[in-house]
Amino acid sequence: MSRSFFIQTVGCQMNVLDSELLAAELCRHGHETAESLRCADIVLFNTCSVREHAEEKIYSALGRLKNAKDYNPRKIIGVVGCMAQKDGQLIFRRAPHVDLVVGPGRFHRLPELLDAVAKGRGPCLDVSLDRADGDKRAVRESFVPFTPWRDGPVRAAPHQAMVRIMSGCNQFCSYCVVPGVRGPEQSRPAVEIIDEIRRLADGECLEITLLGQTVNSYKDVSGRKTIVLADLLEMIDAVEGLRRVKFVTNHPRFMTGALLEAVRDLPKVSPYLHVPAQSGSDSVLRRMKRGYDAAAYREMIDRIRLTIPGAAVTSDFIVGFCGETEEDFQRTADLVRSARFKNSFIFKYSPRPNTKAAELYADDVPDSVKRRRNNELLAIQNAVSLEDNRPYEGRTVEILVEGPSKTARKRNDGSSQLVGRTACDRIVVFHGPRELIGRIIPVRIDKVDAFTLFGSYGNSMNAG
Ligand code: SAH
Ligand code: SF4
Ligand code: F3S
Repeated sequence: MSRSFFIQTVGCQMNVLDSELLAAELCRHGHETAESLRCADIVLFNTCSVREHAEEKIYSALGRLKNAKDYNPRKIIGVVGCMAQKDGQLIFRRAPHVDLVVGPGRFHRLPELLDAVAKGRGPCLDVSLDRADGDKRAVRESFVPFTPWRDGPVRAAPHQAMVRIMSGCNQFCSYCVVPGVRGPEQSRPAVEIIDEIRRLADGECLEITLLGQTVNSYKDVSGRKTIVLADLLEMIDAVEGLRRVKFVTNHPRFMTGALLEAVRDLPKVSPYLHVPAQSGSDSVLRRMKRGYDAAAYREMIDRIRLTIPGAAVTSDFIVGFCGETEEDFQRTADLVRSARFKNSFIFKYSPRPNTKAAELYADDVPDSVKRRRNNELLAIQNAVSLEDNRPYEGRTVEILVEGPSKTARKRNDGSSQLVGRTACDRIVVFHGPRELIGRIIPVRIDKVDAFTLFGSYGNSMNAG
């Protein structure tokens, strides 16, 4: 029977992609998208466990749905994704009105499980094996990569698409739940990736973002010749119709010369590298188990600057990690000042169950200190971002127009403010007709702030 569904998504781009793929699968099974959570027959929460705050928000949202379930017991409520894998049965205990819990390694079974619930055979739970509950092979096989084809309409924008090139993670940074909830690293065969990208480019897609937790450790060994990310980028660069390729997230340890040269030499590959440092202090990096020290990270930045002048480099940082002293923090602040990131995402450390850090170290930095360090680092980063955006004033840049700007969407009055991005991932806001959406156009930059370039297009371009 056809039902309407609504997927609420939190977390990283991997989750946004999973929700698109789930929506496509459900449509293929005869279901249809609902306008809102309220009117949907099926509500799915696609969840994130990376910080405690993310989980608490999901549990409160689930709590709020209890009334809706009392009012309409036929409404199906599902919790899927990373928190489903991490909490499993606990979700039914904390929210007894939930019908379905499905981990990211079991998404291929979702349509079938929804049918079972609808037939009254719920509640249903399907999660992958815990790493401690089976041998390596059994654990890997329980995390089934989810890469079905999805049609244009389920994507937010027809001219952009994310493509998964690997799933899982083998790094086990001491603070992180991802290797547990997403399972062992598995690279997708290059032929499959190229086939998907060709089909996307045959449609209206101009820009692809390749996704992986450590995307630059990609390695396809299924064929005669091993294919690494640099090779894959070369293959993608040759796909007709495609204009831009980005890839996230890189790990500093796998930033090879061959990859940097590929980014420099391949015209469609954006000069944009998200390569999180997490900290600038050696002792913190050691406790985080990141596998490099601050000098190695700085050396990598130098190599990037030397090979790809003008590349935009972005980072993530965790402040207030176990045992982080003021001196450690100052080392991180120094790194942000000298590495000149385009922008950084900064997080307060949140201890996670079943991680090495939670097991071995006390969460001993008070929240007020975490908050102060977070704000301080943000202020330093914003000053760098503003300085580095300044030279754009007066320049003309090429942007892919993504859609109405945030302001225009909020007003919802057909305002002509649009937003797009440069190849180096800078956000550009300007006025223009909506027909420009999905096109790559030149825009002249008039002024900048730390986060945005403000420009003008068309006749007004010649005005100044
Ligand atoms: N695979 C990516 C992203 C992982 S999650 C990577 O390796 O960079 C995204 C970011 O969340 C991480 O880069 C890290 O900065 C942050 N993060 C992960 N675990 C965290 C925790 N326990 N507390 C606070 N921030 C965390
Ligand atoms: Fe987590 Fe580290 Fe893997 Fe990134 S590389 S997902 S931070 S364990
Ligand atoms: Fe992403 Fe959160 Fe899962 S960051 S991989 S959605 S735990």
